Amino acid sequence: MNRIRLGVNVDHIATLRQSRGTKYPDPVIAAGVAELAGADQITIHLREDRRHIQERDVRIMRETIGTVMNLELAANRDVLEIACLVKPDLATLVPEKRAELTTEGGLAVVGREREVAATVEMLSRAGITVSLFINPDPAEVRASFECGARQIEIHTGFYADSRGERQRQELERIRVAAAEGARLGLQVAAGHGLDYVNTREVCHIPEIIELNIGHSIMSRSFFVGLDQAVREMIDILREEEVG
Ligand code: PXP
Repeated sequence: MNRIRLGVNVDHIATLRQSRGTKYPDPVIAAGVAELAGADQITIHLREDRRHIQERDVRIMRETIGTVMNLELAANRDVLEIACLVKPDLATLVPEKRAELTTEGGLAVVGREREVAATVEMLSRAGITVSLFINPDPAEVRASFECGARQIEIHTGFYADSRGERQRQELERIRVAAAEGARLGLQVAAGHGLDYVNTREVCHIPEIIELNIGHSIMSRSFFVGLDQAVREMIDILREEEVG
């Protein structure tokens, strides 16, 4: 049985807090509730512009998360130093552009292997498992492997944003990239833009062992509560993962 682990991204709780400069809602509490509901991992992104998650959140969550702490970060010196001190279980390298609404594309590893390998080495030396967030492209998968990453997270945003035949093609790209990752011995995760409808098909890809999902779960939590929103996503994973 290919049991898919659910990483719950709580950045959006911090976005709401930062929008008013209040103490609430606290992503630390959201992480605890998500874990109690069955999340296998908590994912947070410490952005260079600190638009949602703050250093305080990272430090406290290192103490409070009882499952797996996945820290998303760009290869920015200041954030890398924090990561090496805090030592999350998993660090996912993502690209970052100041003007973007969310992480828009995968990391360009091809052509930047030396630079990426140095960052992977720095984090690995601190005892952190490194994942690279990449587009569903076999060349990027191979480059990630060559850079020493243990895991890749395949960007599902293009799949999530498309429809019909185009969506089927995007799913196929994810399938091919996942197979290439597994062939190389990489752990294969996926995420971005996944919701209570489009996650089902992604679960049918046997090489995928982890999904990181934030926006759809947090959005549903407004209406049904975070506990139920997490449980409903876990139910989808259990129903759809391949035996
Ligand atoms: N994975 C990565 C690498 C991300 O950057 C994000 C967004 O922060 C997610 C997963 C979660 O995406 P979404 O909020 O669209 O579910």
